[in-house]
Amino acid sequence: MKVSVIGAGAVGSQLAFALAIKNYENIAIIDIKENLARARALDIMQSSSLWGFEGKVKGSGEYKDIEGSDIVVTTAGLARKPGMTREALFDTNCKITRSVAAEIGKHAPGCIMIVVTNPLDIMAYIAYRESGFSPEKVMGMAGVLDTARYKYFISEKLSCSPSEVEALVLGMHGADMVITDGARAGKKNLKDFLSVKDLQGLKERTKKAGKEVVELLGSGSASFAPAASVSLMVDSIRHDRKEILPCSVHTRSAYGLGDIFIGLPAVIGRAGVEEVVEEEIGEAARKELLDAGKKIEKKIRKLEL
Ligand code: APR
Repeated sequence: MKVSVIGAGAVGSQLAFALAIKNYENIAIIDIKENLARARALDIMQSSSLWGFEGKVKGSGEYKDIEGSDIVVTTAGLARKPGMTREALFDTNCKITRSVAAEIGKHAPGCIMIVVTNPLDIMAYIAYRESGFSPEKVMGMAGVLDTARYKYFISEKLSCSPSEVEALVLGMHGADMVITDGARAGKKNLKDFLSVKDLQGLKERTKKAGKEVVELLGSGSASFAPAASVSLMVDSIRHDRKEILPCSVHTRSAYGLGDIFIGLPAVIGRAGVEEVVEEEIGEAARKELLDAGKKIEKKIRKLEL
């Protein structure tokens, strides 16, 4: 399997590294800063005997090097700086995502595309339209990350393992994410352990989890958890796991949503987004989802696609 990663910055390079140590055979990293891509690839390859992987990582500035990819992940774009929202990246990342998606459509027409660039749900829609791909071949990474963050904060609060926690975060990647009720730790509902105030506090922290990292860093944004989230999605495709993962996907009219990309539970397998799952998420979450959908729709309709 060949996986290409566009953008050799923090998220792209960590993703390439994660895939290498998971024994992916063929990884390409592309960046407009060619030397950055080559440096990242060389650095990862120099660790191969230490980590014991056999695959090849190649860095390049040319899109022809993504030819033959089964999966292409795009992280190309600006990342947030302190004080910036994901939405502030809009104009620049729109232009970058348009050109990157067109290149992917040209050089890797058979691939499945995963979008990471923010603001995510809009960029995923742009990538879908600009590449000319069918909707099941395009997905955005956000819900896996938001859910992982929520799980971690819950586990920290309850002093339990994050792997014991079940939770689901849908909707828009940002302040309008939809954190569904019904999170569980082991066999117990969180409402049995935590006060409404504590639970609300964990939800608020999750909504600002990326910002918390941005503020601490002072320069750059989160990368370990985003890269790990994409690598889980890539694994689900590679191994045809057909796992239900919260991803930014074309709605296919699920939940009464229109022609947009937004975070929904989706079956992710070798064919890409194999199904959008309409889970019972409760009336309040459903309304939040529709409200977030309207916001995304408004932004999408302003784009000239
Ligand atoms: N083609 C290829 N690479 C590009 C292009 C382009 N047209 N435009 C920008 N890049 C590259 C930059 O040169 C940079 O190396 O994208 C990389 C982005 O890396 P970082 O600035 O380190 O950003 P990162 O933290 O990796 O985040 C990337 O993911 O989570 C989102 O909000 C985040 O949109 C941002 C993206």
